[in-house]
Amino acid sequence: MLSVRNLEKVYAGRQGGSAARAVDSVSFDVAKGEFFTLLGPSGCGKTTTLQSIAGLETPTGGKIELGGSTVYCSAEAILVPANRRNLGMVFQSYAIWPHLTVFDNVAFPLVHGAKSAPKGDVRRRVMDALALVKLQDYANRPAPHLSGGQQQRVALARALVNEPSLLLLDEPLSNLDAKLRDAMRVEIRQLVKSLGITTLFVTHDQLEAMAMSDTIVVMQAGRIVQKGTPQDVYLRPTNAFTADFMGRSNLVHGMAKGDAITTSFGVVRTERAAIDGAVTVVVRPHVITASKQRTDVVANVFEGQLRRQSYIGDSIEAEVTVGTELLRVSLDPYQTFVDGERLWLHIPADRCVVVPREAQS
Ligand SMILES: Nc1ncnc2c1ncn2[C@@H]1O[C@H](COP(=O)(O)OP(=O)(O)OP(=O)(O)O)[C@@H](O)[C@H]1O
Ligand SMILES: [Mg+2]
Repeated sequence: MLSVRNLEKVYAGRQGGSAARAVDSVSFDVAKGEFFTLLGPSGCGKTTTLQSIAGLETPTGGKIELGGSTVYCSAEAILVPANRRNLGMVFQSYAIWPHLTVFDNVAFPLVHGAKSAPKGDVRRRVMDALALVKLQDYANRPAPHLSGGQQQRVALARALVNEPSLLLLDEPLSNLDAKLRDAMRVEIRQLVKSLGITTLFVTHDQLEAMAMSDTIVVMQAGRIVQKGTPQDVYLRPTNAFTADFMGRSNLVHGMAKGDAITTSFGVVRTERAAIDGAVTVVVRPHVITASKQRTDVVANVFEGQLRRQSYIGDSIEAEVTVGTELLRVSLDPYQTFVDGERLWLHIPADRCVVVPREAQS
């Protein structure tokens, strides 16, 4: 459905400033009907990638194919304008027009777009699109007289009204409060899945990405560092950046030999023995179990001292000193702990992930 090959965007530096490589040789494929997400921190090149696919930004290199036809190719000097790409887009700010009603906002692409529709069709298609986002009763309201969540739905209806072959969503939930965001996550995924629309979603929120996506691409500084299902990127990160970005992790440096990794606080046994040499062991805080007494598990039990704790209901987030290392551990919220108390930590071998040591980590 969508194929992106070696996409590159370099912004020329202004007044002698250095050039910014916003997108650096990015390649991925999105299958028909797939919910595909670009995830990464602010400034990693997500919007630039999306805008290049939309035709709103001109890349400096690479190739983009949509539904089998080339819409951009640097080598062949092909550049199909945005209004010929049959895409729906919701921008990072919803960009709805404040002087228009809800109806006129959604009708805008049908009336002013490249594929303008016959007048009789406009009403039916706008009302169909509004029904999809459950706003059919709001058609005549001025757009500013809506809540943030409703405005976000107007933007979504406008993106869907032309029955696009590909829907591009750029952080559409970032302006909503936490509760509404949770509800909209589920709604958007159900809606596009029921319509069978291929969706390319952009977010910096790893929970949002995991809850909504079939496939996640993790980006760092203009490059893809990992691609996979939500389970792949969360449970099986292949690099320290992904491990750290996908949720709270302990990143422990060590030297690997076989399944034994020598760290500053002792030998950690792991199941994977793929790498020898300098590694980082990734251990999520909630896989560590902490006991007040020494347990009889043979391997991977380390004595530590509780340094700090904060009670957050579902668990107690704690920091435990083990040797010279400070490990983040989720403690049982039904127990009471005292700062400074001695704890025995068990790190299960099958829940450790070993990744190569990176220069910056
Ligand atoms: N018009 C521009 N001129 C120069 N540099 C730009 C321009 N637009 C973006 N950049 C730079 O390109 C890089 C990528 O920007 P981009 O907007 O794609 O990031 P993003 O991943 O969408 O971030 P965010 O999560 O903050 O929206 C950033 O370093 C940014 O400063
Ligand atoms: Mg952005």
